[in-house]
Amino acid sequence: MTDTDGYDAVVLGSPVYMGNWQPEVRQFVERYRTRLARMPVWLFSSGPVGRGSDDPRFYPRKVTELMQVTHARDHRIFPGKIDAGALTLGGRLVVRVVRAPNGDVRNWEATRDWARKIAAALRPH
Ligand SMILES: Cc1cc2nc3c(=O)[nH]c(=O)nc-3n(C[C@H](O)[C@H](O)[C@H](O)COP(=O)(O)O)c2cc1C
Repeated sequence: MTDTDGYDAVVLGSPVYMGNWQPEVRQFVERYRTRLARMPVWLFSSGPVGRGSDDPRFYPRKVTELMQVTHARDHRIFPGKIDAGALTLGGRLVVRVVRAPNGDVRNWEATRDWARKIAAALRPH
C-alpha cells in the first residue's frame, strides 16, 4: 500500500527493531495523517520477542503517538521471531544488544482472532 486512495479502512503494522517502528511506516502515518484520522484504522507491532512481548517497559516507542494521530481503534503487539542464522552480522549484533532471543514465538491463533474482530467490525450491520 503506497497511499490510502481506494481503501475504506487501514490495518497498519511494523516490525519492532531497536524498540521502534520502521521509519517508512512512521513516515506513511505522517504523510496520510489527515486521511487516516477519518478512516477506521488498526495498528499492530510484529515483535518484539522474549522479554519485550508482555512487558510495558518495552512497548514500542511512538505507538501511543501513532494511535492518537490516526485515532486507531486498537493496537496489538504480536510476538515475532528471530532466526539469527538468517540475519546479517549487523542484525545479529543488534539483537544481541537488545537481548532479543533466537526463536519463533508467533501466536497465529491470536493473530487470526484479531483479524476476525476487524472483519466483524467492518461488516455492514
Ligand atoms: C535488527 C533487529 C532488531 C530488533 N530489535 C528488537 C528490539 O529492540 N526489541 C525486541 O524485543 N525485539 C527486537 N527484534 C525482534 C523483532 O521484533 C522480531 O524479529 C519481529 O518478529 C520482527 O518482525 P517481522 O517478523 O515481521 O520481521 C529485533 C530484530 C532484528 C532483526
